[in-house]
Amino acid sequence: MTTEHPNSPQGYKTPVGILGVGHFVPDEVLTNAELAKFVDTTDEWIVGRTGIRARRRAAPDQATSDLAIEAGRRALEAAGTRPEDLDLIIVATMTPDCPMPATSSIVQHKLGATRAGGFDLNIACSGFVYALITGAQFVASGTYQRVLVIGADCMTRLMNWKDRSTCVLFGDGAGAVVLGPVASGYGMLGIHTGVNGAGGPSLTVNAGGSRMPSWSEGVKPSDFYLQMEGPEVFRFAVSVMGEAALKALDNGGLTPEQVSLFIPHQANARIIEASRKRLNLPPARVFSNVENYGNTSCGSVPLALSEALQQGRIQDRDLIVLVGFGGGLSWASAAIRWGGQPGSG
Ligand code: ACO
Repeated sequence: MTTEHPNSPQGYKTPVGILGVGHFVPDEVLTNAELAKFVDTTDEWIVGRTGIRARRRAAPDQATSDLAIEAGRRALEAAGTRPEDLDLIIVATMTPDCPMPATSSIVQHKLGATRAGGFDLNIACSGFVYALITGAQFVASGTYQRVLVIGADCMTRLMNWKDRSTCVLFGDGAGAVVLGPVASGYGMLGIHTGVNGAGGPSLTVNAGGSRMPSWSEGVKPSDFYLQMEGPEVFRFAVSVMGEAALKALDNGGLTPEQVSLFIPHQANARIIEASRKRLNLPPARVFSNVENYGNTSCGSVPLALSEALQQGRIQDRDLIVLVGFGGGLSWASAAIRWGGQPGSG
């Protein structure tokens, strides 16, 4: 008998799952050796402290919506869903094309999603998992049939290329999923979200909002860059990743032993390794591609999910756990039973 948990998605009216996944990254590959030409760093330091070897950088004429649209298109194709059948589009991003219109409006128009509503969601790198959980509620309640959830960021636009403690960590990328009803026993089984606003000052972009608009007196270019207390964020991340995964599992009446693949936010290989140990999972049950992309913020979890699928690492009935963490400080997690899509038998 399963234990009843408050807020358990087991109470969903309609089981909701992922019907299709896609991702997109810009062409330019920026290796550690290339970075070392203009910032005081080495390949050895970056690989040793983070596991990152390369990241992608958007072209000057590419914005977040361009990455989001391509990832969205691929997810729609994988799901066999036409843009005009979408009910809702949620774009998780902390680097929208501009403050207004919302990136989701640009995506809606360019995809030709003529019936869809849409909005952006910003909770830094936790954004995609938050958006996934949010989108799932519309399907679970029976209100909507098809929701496109996209995580996309151009983090290189927030980098101070003279600050070696941040510019080596981030990259640009996008991933997307189509949510819809699935067979009973499949889909989202457990979720968890959290924020600790007291830790907010350790990860910031100070200018460009209402407190420090671009034209305010004394505003400096560095105020527009991402600033981070690296060791503090590292300690937070190590403690929160495993705990968030455990809470989503517990919320669904599940345990870590049942997890087939853990897909954490791709920020640092050492953080991923620490959470793997916390969950007592063998390396084969953890997915990482941080080596090739660095931290793509909202793009990170769906990009990892998409590559895991492409590599055949997820099979029907597998239990996967997604965890995001980031600025806020914030975190979110979801335990999902893969499969049960319409027509999948
Ligand atoms: N190359 C060479 N040396 C460097 C570099 C670099 N790229 N960056 C920092 N250093 C130096 C520092 O200056 C310092 O030198 P010092 O001892 O002479 O002062 C030394 O390396 C150690 O620096 P630390 O910051 O203590 O190094 P640490 O081992 O903590 O690693 C890192 C730094 C990789 C940033 C780590 O703290 C980390 O990964 N933090 C978490 C980052 C993260 O997950 N962010 C998520 C953001 S999610 C979102 O919402 C945006």
